[in-house]
Amino acid sequence: MAKTAHRYLEIAPWVVEERGFNEERSEVSESIFALANEFMGVRGSFEEGYSGQTTQGSFFNGIYESGEHIYSTKFKGFADGWTYMVNSVDWLYTRIRLDDELLDLAKISFRDFSRKVDMRTGIVERSFVWDSASGKSIRIKFERMLSMHTSHLGVQQISLEAINFTGVVEIDVGLDFGVTYNLRQSQPWSLLKHEASSTHAASLGRTSSSGHRVFSSLHLKTSRDVETSTFHLDRLVGATVKMELEPNKVETITRIAANHSEKDSDLSDDTVWTSGFLKLKAEKNTTWESALKNQRSYWESVWKQVDVTIEGDDENQQGFRFCIFHLLQTYRGEDPRHNIGAKGLTGEHYWGVTWWDTETYCLPFYLFNNRRAAKNLVTYRHHTLPGAQKRARELHLEGARYPMCTIDGDEICDVWQHGDLEIHVSAAIAYGIWKYVHITGDKEFLRDHGAEILIEVARFYASRGGWGQRTGKFGYWGVMGPDEMHTMVNNNAYTNILAKKSFEWALEVLDELSKEAPEALSAIKAKTKLQEAELSDWKKKAENMDTMLDESSGIFEQHEGFFNMPHIDYLDIPDDQFPVQKKWPYVDLFRFDLIKQPDVLLFFFLFGSEYSEEALEKNLDYYEPRCSHESSLSPAIHSILSARLGRHKKAYEYARYSSRLDLDDYNNNTCEGLHVTSMAGAWMNLVYGFGGMKTDGDILSFCPTLPASWNGFGFKIHVEDDAVLSVKINTETVSFKLEGTGFIKISVFSELYSVTSDGICIPLPNTHRDQTGIQNPVEEGASGAKPKDRTDGLNLARQATYT
Ligand code: BGC
Repeated sequence: MAKTAHRYLEIAPWVVEERGFNEERSEVSESIFALANEFMGVRGSFEEGYSGQTTQGSFFNGIYESGEHIYSTKFKGFADGWTYMVNSVDWLYTRIRLDDELLDLAKISFRDFSRKVDMRTGIVERSFVWDSASGKSIRIKFERMLSMHTSHLGVQQISLEAINFTGVVEIDVGLDFGVTYNLRQSQPWSLLKHEASSTHAASLGRTSSSGHRVFSSLHLKTSRDVETSTFHLDRLVGATVKMELEPNKVETITRIAANHSEKDSDLSDDTVWTSGFLKLKAEKNTTWESALKNQRSYWESVWKQVDVTIEGDDENQQGFRFCIFHLLQTYRGEDPRHNIGAKGLTGEHYWGVTWWDTETYCLPFYLFNNRRAAKNLVTYRHHTLPGAQKRARELHLEGARYPMCTIDGDEICDVWQHGDLEIHVSAAIAYGIWKYVHITGDKEFLRDHGAEILIEVARFYASRGGWGQRTGKFGYWGVMGPDEMHTMVNNNAYTNILAKKSFEWALEVLDELSKEAPEALSAIKAKTKLQEAELSDWKKKAENMDTMLDESSGIFEQHEGFFNMPHIDYLDIPDDQFPVQKKWPYVDLFRFDLIKQPDVLLFFFLFGSEYSEEALEKNLDYYEPRCSHESSLSPAIHSILSARLGRHKKAYEYARYSSRLDLDDYNNNTCEGLHVTSMAGAWMNLVYGFGGMKTDGDILSFCPTLPASWNGFGFKIHVEDDAVLSVKINTETVSFKLEGTGFIKISVFSELYSVTSDGICIPLPNTHRDQTGIQNPVEEGASGAKPKDRTDGLNLARQATYT
C-alpha cells in the first residue's frame, strides 16, 4: 500500500485538464475544479445536476451554521459549541431537458467530455456532446468564473449547439437554498424572500441556528429571443428558458450572479435584501465578455508578480502553480474578518475553520506576495482576541489562549486533547506578529494591535506554565505538541521554545516602544493593565525555560521521556494499519516513538538561522525516521530541511508530494476538498527549500540548490509594496534582480551582496546541484504501472491516507 500518484489529469504548465469523464474520480475532480475568490467558493460539481457520486458545495467565507457540542460527559473546559462553514445556496443551479430527457451525465449517452481550469483566467470550462434518446445530438459547453475583480460576482455561460436537428431545448436557471449540508446531513436554510422574472431572480436565505443570511441573485441574458416562465418550488427559485436551436449555430445563456452575505442579526431582512439587490443592479450591464476581460487582466497582473517557473519538470511546474492559484483564490486580503480554512472554500471537511496553519504555514506566502493580505491575516487575530481571552478564562488562565479551530474566535474543537492541550497555537499567533513586523517593519500595526496580542499571549504562557521541582526550570505540563500522536506530555520542546520566544518577543516590543513611542506604550499599558512585575516575571520564565536540549547528544527531546519510549520501526508496521491515526486506538498511538509531523524539526525550520547544520543534521537524523507524515503539512518541512543539508534526492522526493498532493490525490482524500494550507507549504518548499531562503535573520539569505531533473527555476519575493526581488537559478548560476528602485542587501551562500535593478549573477557551487542523477521518477497508480519502491528513508512511501 504505497503512497501512490493517482494520475488522471493532463500535465500542462497553465491548464489542468480532465479528458474523458473519470466517473470514479468525480468527487476528486469536484475539488480540483473548485473555484474561489476569498468571498465565496464553489466545488467543480456539474451545475446541471448529477445523480452519480457528487458532493455539491457552495461556500461563503465566514458564513457558518452553529450548535452545541453534545458530550455524554462534559468536563469543565470542553468547548461548548461548534461553528462550521455551511454549504450554502447553489447559485449555479441549472437543469436542461431535450424532448423530456433530463441532462444527467450518470444516465445519458455522451462523448468528447473534457473539463479544464485555466490558471491564467480562473475559468472552469466543461464540454461534451449529448446524444439524446430521441437521436438528437447537441454540443454543450459550460463555463464559470468567480470574479477576482468584484468579489460578489459569479458568472456562468452555457453554450448550446444543435448538431443534427432544429428544435427546442429547455433550460432551468435557478437559485437553490434547498441544499444539503453533508457533514451534518441537514438542510439548514430557510427561504425568507424571493422573486423571479424573465430577466432576473433573487432570493434570501437564513441558516436555522446561526441566523446568518445569504442573498443570491441573477440576471439572465440570452443570445436570442426566448420564451421564459418562472418557477418557485420550496427553496428553489428561477426561470425556465425555451430556446430554439438550429444546426451549427451556437446559442448562449449567461447568468450574471450577484451574492451577498450578512452575519449581523441586527439588520432587518429588508435591509439585507436591499443591499444584495444593489449589488445585482450594479451588474446590470455586465456580460460574459466584460467579466472575462476583467478576470484575465486580474490574473495576468497577479501572475506577473507571483509566478514560479520550473524548467524541465512540467509536473512540478503545474503542481506548484496549482498550489499558488488556490492560495490566491482562497485568500487575498479583501476582508480582515476572513481567514484560511485547511480546505479553503473547496469542501466541508475541516469545517472551514482557521488553524495555527495560517501563521505557521500560510503567512510567509502572503508576506512575500501580497502584504495587504498578510496584514489582514494578522489583524484577524486582533478581531478574535476577545474569544482567545474568554477561552483563557474558561480554562482558569490569564491572557489569550488562541483556539485550535475557530471561525469567529471561539474555540470549537470538541476533541479536548487538541482543543485544551495544544497550547502552542497562541505562540503561533505571536510568531505571526513577530514575523510580520520583522519582514514589513510595520510598527504601526504593532502599536495598534500587535503589542496588545503579544502581551496577552505572554500572560497566557506565564499563567499556564510551572516550575519543575527537580529541574528548577520553567515549562509546561499536560500539553500536546504539533506531533499530535502524544497527548498530555510534559515539557514538549516545541511548546516550551515557542513560549520562551513569545515572552522574548513581548519584552522586546515593549522595550522598543518605551524608546520609540512612549505615548503609545502608555496607552497600551493602560488598555491591558500591564504591571511592571509581569515583565520581570516573563524575563525570568524565558531565561529559565526548559528547552529540552540533551547536551550530550545535541538532540532536543520532544518531550519528557520521549527518548525512553519503546521504538517502533515504521517499516515494520503492516500496510493495512495506515493511516495509524485512524486505525490505531489512542493507547497504541501514545506508547511508541512514532510521530505524526515535525515537532522539534519545526523550530529548526522556523528559526533556521539560530541552528548550525550540525545541530540540524543530528535532529533530522533522529526524528525523520520516526515521522509518519500523517499530516499533509509534514513533507514540505522535511523537504526544506533536507535541502538545507544538501540531501538533494530526499528534498526532491518530499517536494513532489507537496506540489502535487491534490492533483495526484496522494492522500486518497482530495474528494473532501483541497489541502489549501499544505499548498502554502508547497510554496515554501520551493522558496525556502530549493531557493534556500531564510527570513529569520537580519537580512534575507539564500542558499539555492537545483534538483537533478530541473534545468532551472525561478520565483519572486515582494520585499516592499513596490519592489520585487526576482530570483533565477539555472545549472550554472543564481541571479537576483530587484524590480523597482533602490537596492536590497541579501546574503547568498553566506556572502553579502547588494542587489539593484541591474541584478547580480553568482556561480552555483557544484555541491548545490543534485548530481545523483534522479530523473523525476513518477510512479503511477492509475496507469497500472507498479509503484517504484522509494522507501529509502522516506516514510511517505508507506502512506495511504492521511489528513
Ligand atoms: C494537523 C494539524 C493541522 C490540521 C489542519 C491536522 O491533521 O495535525 O497540525 O492544524 O490538520 O491542517
